[in-house]
Amino acid sequence: MPAVLDEVRTINFEDYLVMPDAELHERIEAAREELGSRVVILGHHYQRDDVIRHADLTGDSYQLSVMAAERSDAEFIVFCGVHFMAESADILAQDYQKVILPDLGAGCSMADMANIEQVEDAWEQLADIGIIGEYKVAPMTYMNSTAAIKAFCGRNGGVVCTSSNAVPLFDKYLKEYDKMMFFPDQHLGRNTGLKFGIPLDKMALWNPREELGGNTEEELQNARLILWKGHCSVHSRFKPWHADQVRKETPDIKVLVHPECMYEVVEKSDLNGSTSFIIKTVENAPAGSKWAIGTELNLVNRLIKNHPDKEIRLLAPDLCMCATMYRIAPQNLAWTLDNLIAGVVVNEIKVDGETKKWATAALERMISFTEQNHDKKN
Ligand code: 13P
Ligand code: SF4
Repeated sequence: MPAVLDEVRTINFEDYLVMPDAELHERIEAAREELGSRVVILGHHYQRDDVIRHADLTGDSYQLSVMAAERSDAEFIVFCGVHFMAESADILAQDYQKVILPDLGAGCSMADMANIEQVEDAWEQLADIGIIGEYKVAPMTYMNSTAAIKAFCGRNGGVVCTSSNAVPLFDKYLKEYDKMMFFPDQHLGRNTGLKFGIPLDKMALWNPREELGGNTEEELQNARLILWKGHCSVHSRFKPWHADQVRKETPDIKVLVHPECMYEVVEKSDLNGSTSFIIKTVENAPAGSKWAIGTELNLVNRLIKNHPDKEIRLLAPDLCMCATMYRIAPQNLAWTLDNLIAGVVVNEIKVDGETKKWATAALERMISFTEQNHDKKN
């Protein structure tokens, strides 16, 4: 352990801002060694390299939620991701475990586009005009949402999905229900609905700032899918003309995008899928193959570094980085771990009991269905 660690008992975050990188990494490693199996560090694929190098487990949002639930031996789950991911880890964690987000400012702009009051109000409006009652309506929320919205879905017979299991979950709920309401990412909802042949005129867009979400009663009666008006500020920067441009420059290039991109971009791509799907596709691709990838910059840069035998580039020429995820830096991680050694739990993410109960129902429906579906396929 570096001698300097002994001096750190009253921990001031400002001190970490002026530390040289080498010292920060040394501190993180030393703290990890001291904490041993009491701590597990999780890192989402979009996390920066200088943080991901310290993660015990890396994955997409689905994998990380399952991995966090499996590490019941760890007292502390340090989540290097964004707020909704840490909340999901806390929902699935044991009571004695503490989930920590090293920077509380690491939110998700998409998750912030739907709050529970708006969602409850939308549901009430749908009940008032008789849609809920006359039809069986399933609420489904993307993982990128608050715990309160997950709990809302849990209470109302609905479920959570991630980009890696949206397709089988849509399949199940579209068969069992007359209509689905999907929060908060209109693009993942639209792209997945289109995979099931739902035409665009059977999809209503719900704007929470307008009466009936900006729709007529007839439009809502006619809709098979009601999509919340939310989007990812990173993935919405990819435009259809980016795909046209890369194909013009490199005709044999393959365009691979995340389904949070708008459907006009997905339509022009060769393949689309979750961050894990993107990673696996590139890993399995032959040497010399060419890829333009429409997802977060840190992940694309890591793919470029790990696959020097393939020609990989970001689909857009300008920066597409998840700025909130990027807030978690080695400074935050070192400060968090040094505090744990000093017996202080900083930045704990705690979901209240009632919310946890119903959010667990929605998350467990997702996990058990995904595991069964996976077993059937293998
Ligand atoms: P994944 O579910 O693919 O990890 O995506 C999470 C996310 O926030 C993408 O923007
Ligand atoms: Fe949220 Fe987009 Fe960042 Fe994913 S990339 S965490 S959806 S802001």
